[in-house]
Amino acid sequence: MYQLSYFSKATSDVSEEIISGILETSRERNKAIGVTGCLVFHKFSFVQIIEGEKRHIQSLFEDIRQDKRHSEVTLLWEGKNNGRNFGDWNMAYFAESEERSSNGEMKNFERNLLLLSELSAGSTAVLDMFWISVRKLISGEVI
Ligand SMILES: Cc1cc2nc3c(=O)[nH]c(=O)nc-3n(C[C@H](O)[C@H](O)[C@H](O)COP(=O)(O)O)c2cc1C
Repeated sequence: MYQLSYFSKATSDVSEEIISGILETSRERNKAIGVTGCLVFHKFSFVQIIEGEKRHIQSLFEDIRQDKRHSEVTLLWEGKNNGRNFGDWNMAYFAESEERSSNGEMKNFERNLLLLSELSAGSTAVLDMFWISVRKLISGEVI
């Protein structure tokens, strides 16, 4: 099992409609190649994890990197991992929402996201905590 996480800046015209389109394509293509993962959209940034066979992850990331709907794609971590974090989702989605902001898990999420943007690649403990907090937040509420 191979995993890869990155963050990027959404281009200024990214809308809910555009994100729906990304998710639709992603879920179809990821399903076909046995890739699972999660896409987070927060304050006009994306953080994504993709997991699957190494060759699929690397060729998918090549395509994602070149996508004009985002820029400044920064790799956080890639490598072998035991098992999947998002095995139940071909591409889970999580975005900020007002009503969740007082929730304790949401605070964890924001703290970890801040740490991620401050630390350079290689901070796998923070990255793991981040994805675990996202998984807790989306369990039961994936669109
Ligand atoms: C933030 C972001 C995340 C994406 N994630 C995926 C993904 O997980 N799987 C996927 O197939 N495409 C994803 N895409 C879309 C790809 O970049 C690409 O447009 C899509 O795979 C279709 O490629 P094709 O036109 O070469 O078939 C993502 C795009 C963006 C901007």
